[in-house]
Amino acid sequence: MQSEPSISRTALITGGSRGIGAAATLALAARGYNVLFNYRNKSARAEEVAAGARELGVQAEALSCDITHAEDLARLFSTLGEHFGSLDLLVLNASGGMERDLLTTNPDYPMVINRDAQVALLEGALPYMTRGGAVVFVTSHWAHLYGRVKQIPNYESVAASKYAGEQELRARLAELTAHGIRLVVVTGDLIEGTITPKLLERAAPGLADGRRNSIGALPTAEEMGEVIAASAVDASLPTGHTVVIGGSLEDLLHQWV
Ligand SMILES: NC(=O)c1ccc[n+]([C@@H]2O[C@H](COP(=O)([O-])OP(=O)(O)OC[C@H]3O[C@@H](n4cnc5c(N)ncnc54)[C@H](OP(=O)(O)O)[C@@H]3O)[C@@H](O)[C@H]2O)c1
Repeated sequence: MQSEPSISRTALITGGSRGIGAAATLALAARGYNVLFNYRNKSARAEEVAAGARELGVQAEALSCDITHAEDLARLFSTLGEHFGSLDLLVLNASGGMERDLLTTNPDYPMVINRDAQVALLEGALPYMTRGGAVVFVTSHWAHLYGRVKQIPNYESVAASKYAGEQELRARLAELTAHGIRLVVVTGDLIEGTITPKLLERAAPGLADGRRNSIGALPTAEEMGEVIAASAVDASLPTGHTVVIGGSLEDLLHQWV
């Protein structure tokens, strides 16, 4: 008797070495996806995540790749082609814009990473993507609602650039649909245990407690990673749909002053 050929599926997750990206990587591995993910420079943590994914029985590879460098992106996609062949899910998780050293060198860094690099990733990935696949753009409530809600001090340029990145991706909805690919946006509240709330607290003391008072416990990176993975594989979600984690967008809109 001939055995059924195994159908392998692959997910590419940006910034999969820690926090939300690591949680999404492991949640997709748990769903049987081979995972390729990149990080900027913290290889030890990345290798731990890759080992954790392999323990779940899938192929996993971590690659040092700065998504703002064209030559690094070329290496990422050649690795994808050589080691995995095709791509079913692209999770655009990595983001930045509060790194003081990078902002000193280039004040436009938020737009470079949160808009331009996201578009370059989509363009690089599209030739490998299979029909029925999905692109997930990970964002925050303050970025998703940029221009409509009061901004957190120190976060405004990140919010503006992530909003611009989301709009660039949404502008390609028709092209994605023609390729049989869905776009899903996952927006999160402040996420417990990640570095971002700690950085934001410095300029906005009491921010995290204020959110806890409004919504109760903040979501964790593991919960957000799980929702990202579930949204990526859920073919019933209409393209362009926004999945919300944490407090509702409506409540945040009402807090505008
Ligand atoms: N944290 C929150 O409270 C929160 C709330 C709502 C939404 N989100 C969204 O969730 C996503 C993940 O956020 P996060 O806080 O977990 O982590 P993050 O700080 O946005 O990203 C961390 C990951 O991105 C990688 N990375 C950073 N710059 C890179 C670059 N230039 N090239 C390649 N990789 C790069 C890091 O690699 P290294 O480890 O090597 O530096 C790490 O793997 C983001 O899109 C963020 O906007 C976060």
